[in-house]
Amino acid sequence: MSVSMLAKAIAESPTMKLNEEARLLRERGQPVIHLGIGEPKNKAPIAAILSGAAKLNTGDVKYAPADGTPSLKKAIIRYTEEHYDKVVAPENVIVSSGAKQAIYNLLYTLLNPQDEVIILSPYWVSYPEMVKMCGAVPVPAKPMDGGYVPNLSDITMRMSSNTKCIMINSPNNPSGAIYPDNFIREVVALCEKEGLYLIMDDIYNRLVFAGKRVTNPIACASDFGSDDCKMIVINGVSKVYAMTGFRIGWAVANPKLIEVMSIIQSHQTSGPSGLLQKAAVAAINGTQSCVDNLVMTLENNARVMVQRLKAFDGVKVTPPDGTFYCFADFSAYDKDSTRLAEFLLNKVMVCTVPGVEFGMEGHLRLSTCGTSKEITEGIERMKWALDPNSPNELIIGHRKMVRDWL
Ligand SMILES: Cc1ncc(COP(=O)(O)O)c(C=O)c1O
Repeated sequence: MSVSMLAKAIAESPTMKLNEEARLLRERGQPVIHLGIGEPKNKAPIAAILSGAAKLNTGDVKYAPADGTPSLKKAIIRYTEEHYDKVVAPENVIVSSGAKQAIYNLLYTLLNPQDEVIILSPYWVSYPEMVKMCGAVPVPAKPMDGGYVPNLSDITMRMSSNTKCIMINSPNNPSGAIYPDNFIREVVALCEKEGLYLIMDDIYNRLVFAGKRVTNPIACASDFGSDDCKMIVINGVSKVYAMTGFRIGWAVANPKLIEVMSIIQSHQTSGPSGLLQKAAVAAINGTQSCVDNLVMTLENNARVMVQRLKAFDGVKVTPPDGTFYCFADFSAYDKDSTRLAEFLLNKVMVCTVPGVEFGMEGHLRLSTCGTSKEITEGIERMKWALDPNSPNELIIGHRKMVRDWL
């Protein structure tokens, strides 16, 4: 088969491979614990379900406007005012099929071949591949201090005459870190001075733990939403409302950019399903206690996970400030995170995501979306597999596992 050069350049995600292996093991009745998945277990808000169902019952589900329905745009405008203290216009908003599509369409709108996009490591796995899918060049910027929080010089040292754009995701997938206020302000100022686009992927910005604060990027911009402003803020319902399967995300930006993104989207997928947009309106405008409950569960789970991980001799872990994840350094056990993830799945049936996919080898990303019982058992199994002082046997389900490795 002859596929395009562009298609050849896009890496298959090893996450998918591990997920598939985990699925097959589960299908064979094996007691797999999935610490890989970035989606909460709870159901969508009831208001969203009822609203979507009511629309479906009318049988009148037709093409929706390419850039989003007026009612969802209105809800997003209200959301932006509530959470970013900024009133924007419908022309500043595009609704896409997930934040993923919003980001991809945005990159497609902005990038020429050879343009460079600075992506802070550790990064969400899809960023580099999306940039490559646009024929442009991802430039990972790893913090020099080896941690998860960059400083401005980590970015400036990677800038070149081809730099077009900087992508920031805080709170961050996979590290769970919130970038400091002064860093966000400095990056906004840098982008304004150098005329760079700044993509703020804010998909986790309400999933932060007690006492933590996320800087409002819009408040740092000179004139957000005006024709000349090059900051774009990405959001969606997937994470905050546990509506991953509804595929509704959005971008808020200057009207010219939104207009071009809308044209691209109109030829690509058309607007997201009106049915699902209706459900998203109900989630955004409905009672928000589901978000508080989700944050409480995640915070508790993160505490349990970090506590258990600290009992390992060879693991370095920083408690996350928010999100669904703990990103821990397992390099003392194996520097090759893909091999380590395979080992843990095969030996103790715990599914994790290798850090190499996020640009940080030697780490594993562990999800806090499961129950605290699953987390406790998953981490205990991992400890048994990795700690040379573990007892020789472990019972998993009805199976007796015997350590036949060092
Ligand atoms: C950082 C980040 N951005 C965007 C997305 C995509 O979200 P959506 O489900 O809205 O496409 C994800 C999903 O994992 C994510 O982690």
